[in-house]
Amino acid sequence: MTARLNRNTGIQMARIKRIVEEAAERAAGGVRFDHQGRRVLVTGGTRGIGRGIVLAFARAGANVVTCHRSDGPAVDSLVKELSETPGDHKVVKADIGNEADIERLIGECRAHLGGIDVVVNNAGSISHVPFDKLDADEWRRVLDVNLTGTFLVVQKALPILTPGASIINIGSKVASVGIPLRSHYTASKAGLVGLTRSLCKELGPKGYRVNIVAPGPVETEEEVTPEVRERYERLTAVGRLGVPGDIAGPVLFLASDLAAFMTGETINVDGGI
Ligand SMILES: NC(=O)c1ccc[n+]([C@@H]2O[C@H](COP(=O)([O-])OP(=O)(O)OC[C@H]3O[C@@H](n4cnc5c(N)ncnc54)[C@H](OP(=O)(O)O)[C@@H]3O)[C@@H](O)[C@H]2O)c1
Repeated sequence: MTARLNRNTGIQMARIKRIVEEAAERAAGGVRFDHQGRRVLVTGGTRGIGRGIVLAFARAGANVVTCHRSDGPAVDSLVKELSETPGDHKVVKADIGNEADIERLIGECRAHLGGIDVVVNNAGSISHVPFDKLDADEWRRVLDVNLTGTFLVVQKALPILTPGASIINIGSKVASVGIPLRSHYTASKAGLVGLTRSLCKELGPKGYRVNIVAPGPVETEEEVTPEVRERYERLTAVGRLGVPGDIAGPVLFLASDLAAFMTGETINVDGGI
């Protein structure tokens, strides 16, 4: 039993390493963004897309605070990787579905970074439930993290946001096209579009920009079956699933001065699906 658990953890860690290396390679290839000294908060950064964004910012010279909900090898390996990357980085255990945790997380940003130049609302929850079986608790759980969590993170970060700050919400392509069995998830991501449009108008005069990066299918540490992979290879124009670095690139662009006149926008990053 223990041997099997160890083997599974080893396999998982190898997958994480491969995916993150690919992400870093993509984010570092081509155009290099300079975020030297920028203070960045990324929610949900220990795995998947968030991890790709955290490492891309850290490698671009930023100081990064990120958070996660559960402990495990992904947290340990991120802490190690960040300790080997120049800059002042911190990994905090904080649940974005919990208001007190969000307050504590922003407190950590204040203490550790002294202010925030970039907020990336990445932490997200999903489940696959037929609409007639979807109960209000599960609806609320997903909305609480994806939509209410984003609202609370931005509101509580306001007092320490610096002029010119960039807020980037990670949405989803499904917000504009819909998807069966994920009505709660789709509603939460569509809600982000309204929140982003409204905030861009309200916060624009204060010098803040608010945008969405809306990924299509992106391969993370989750196992992908050959059938699913084949389906997406057929569906996307570029013939493959995305990797976290494909999403990190547009996020680093939106956080940069090159995007100084962009706000309220949704950028679909979906391989042309
Ligand atoms: N992957 C895709 O195909 C895809 C497509 C479109 C949009 N997106 C969006 O992209 C974002 C990242 O997705 P992903 O696929 O990379 O997810 P993932 O692989 O499941 O990773 C999610 C990350 O967020 C953390 N997290 C989740 N819930 C949290 C919470 N309540 N509080 C704090 N941290 C939390 C997780 O940490 P723990 O391990 O501690 O939970 C993990 O580090 C989400 O907003 C998702 O909706 C993903």
